[in-house]
Amino acid sequence: MTKIKDRLCFGNWKLNKNLDEAKNFISEFSALVSKDEKEHFAFFPQSLIAGAFVDSGLHWGPQNVYSLGSGAFTGETSVKTAVGMGAQYALIGHSERRSLFLESDEFLNQKVKLCLESNTTPVFCIGESLKEKEEQRTFEVLEKQIASGLKNVDLSNVILAYEPVWAIGTGVSATPDVVLEVHDFLKDLIKNDETPILYGGSVKPSNAKELYQINNVDGFLIGGASLDPKILYSVFCEMGEKK
Ligand code: PGA
Repeated sequence: MTKIKDRLCFGNWKLNKNLDEAKNFISEFSALVSKDEKEHFAFFPQSLIAGAFVDSGLHWGPQNVYSLGSGAFTGETSVKTAVGMGAQYALIGHSERRSLFLESDEFLNQKVKLCLESNTTPVFCIGESLKEKEEQRTFEVLEKQIASGLKNVDLSNVILAYEPVWAIGTGVSATPDVVLEVHDFLKDLIKNDETPILYGGSVKPSNAKELYQINNVDGFLIGGASLDPKILYSVFCEMGEKK
């Protein structure tokens, strides 16, 4: 499993880019980054274009996997197939999976376990909705997502991504004091120094430095700003080394 645990810059492409666009991105991006810098990045393309990453030298993973590796599950993605193609990671429980496809924490727990059995690192996404935030239930929600979604899981090989739903795709990230408070809470809750905690939600070059320098922020999960190689690389450059 991949061991880099700092300055992580993970790009969630969602349902964007066709095969040619993915290939163009990969060649442009590969010309920008050094071999060592590449280790800090991972990409989550839609499954149909994942083949573009094979032999690219870039880390990648599916945006979702089914809870079983094979069988009569029409339309699903197999983590075993992804690993066979060289995937190092898998996104599990992104808020769009939770809200649009009604994935429960119990279901997500099975997926996380299958990822670990399959020797791939799950990036487990958690986050509260705007309503839950307004009801001041953020910590309660996150605690439940972790207690059920990561039940009986060794967290040493898991990456956690805190993505407040109200900050995703809005252009307005969580404020540094919210990020600090929540990441401190999560660090305390999981009691495992091996588990990187990413922040996600409207990360861009202009806020990357301030957000990355916050205590217990080990990197980012980035949607919109990961679609352009130059913008993504500039997020990474802005992050700088952790002080
Ligand atoms: P965003 O998306 O960076 O476009 O807000 C983040 C995500 O959904 O992972």
